[in-house]
Amino acid sequence: MSASTSPRGIVLGIETSCDETGVGVVALAADGSTTLLADEIASSVDEHARFGGVVPEVAARAHLQAMVPAVQRALATAGVKASDVDAVAVTAGPGLAGALLVGVAAAKAYATAWGVPLYGVNHLASHVAVDTLQHGPLPPCLALLVSGGHSSLLEVPDLAGPIAPLGATIDDAAGEAFDKVARLLGLPFPGGPHIDRVARDGDPAAVAFPRGLTGPRDARFDFSFSGLKTAVARHVEALEAAGNGVPVADVAASFQEAVADVLTAKTIRAATERGLDTVVLGGGVAANSRLRALAEQRCEASGLRLRVPRPGLCTDNGAMVAALGAHLLAAGTPASPLELSADSGLPVTEVFLTHPH
Ligand code: KG4
Ligand code: ZN
Repeated sequence: MSASTSPRGIVLGIETSCDETGVGVVALAADGSTTLLADEIASSVDEHARFGGVVPEVAARAHLQAMVPAVQRALATAGVKASDVDAVAVTAGPGLAGALLVGVAAAKAYATAWGVPLYGVNHLASHVAVDTLQHGPLPPCLALLVSGGHSSLLEVPDLAGPIAPLGATIDDAAGEAFDKVARLLGLPFPGGPHIDRVARDGDPAAVAFPRGLTGPRDARFDFSFSGLKTAVARHVEALEAAGNGVPVADVAASFQEAVADVLTAKTIRAATERGLDTVVLGGGVAANSRLRALAEQRCEASGLRLRVPRPGLCTDNGAMVAALGAHLLAAGTPASPLELSADSGLPVTEVFLTHPH
């Protein structure tokens, strides 16, 4: 092992903001580079499927059951002992309060038992940080985060913060729109991957669905998807009332095109206006094949560098929390206070907790 790659720290990351119990282990080298050693996930998504959305109480209970085995599996996969861990990072918010509490309580217990620093970190900042595990250090960038719970455009000068929110959805999150439209089309929950799949056989120009908040007077960096969702519902109802079958592939492709079009157009505009030449995509919807292709095409046309983590790192996971923890450790950031508590509404401007909340 060369001096530059000798270990400087092992960081364990815990994520429980929604329905994924994620535990990641990242090794930080002396030169600041990071290596992902383990990324264990236990999902309660099947338990929510029949409700068509995540049920907070069910998610919290599932985290409680999955937590300790997930930590044990992550340490075993990483080939490290508990005594090798140098820092623990945990998602402190934003997210479901009861779900967050389970992760925060576990992380406090581990950090206290192992006598190592604890970092309570921001879920959105972690979605951006995860890209460093795949593509190396991140220059100042524009991040588009799109998932079941959030749709945000962020200006990220540095991962240690502060991060500036440029815009967000004013109603449904992008993933929520995918899930609701999938339901209208009779596809299972979570709907995003199903829409992505069936849209491959559809015509994206079949229906001209509305592009929310793209008028000249609209907020330039905010998103709205509820009008689009309603337009799809009306379209499906009209077809059914006329006794016609619903061309599911065409409707899915046209809906997906409307979402990808608005997301990429606003992202490119924000990056260009803020003078940022790197764009990062994150969150579950960043796994969408059309969004990825259109982002690639439009970034290239605008001279922007696009970084998209592999799909497994885009959805919620523990590796992203460990990645941000490793960055904070490398930057010599003081630990968060052990009295910290989960904050379901933690603003993205707060990358890590410096006071109890
Ligand atoms: O980041 P994530 O795992 O959890 C949240 O924080 O919400 O994102 C889950 C969301 C769901 O709404 C799901 O339908 C959507 O991401 N999603 C997709 C795709 N894969 C997952 N949406 C569109 N296309 C996909 N391929
Ligand atoms: Zn997320």
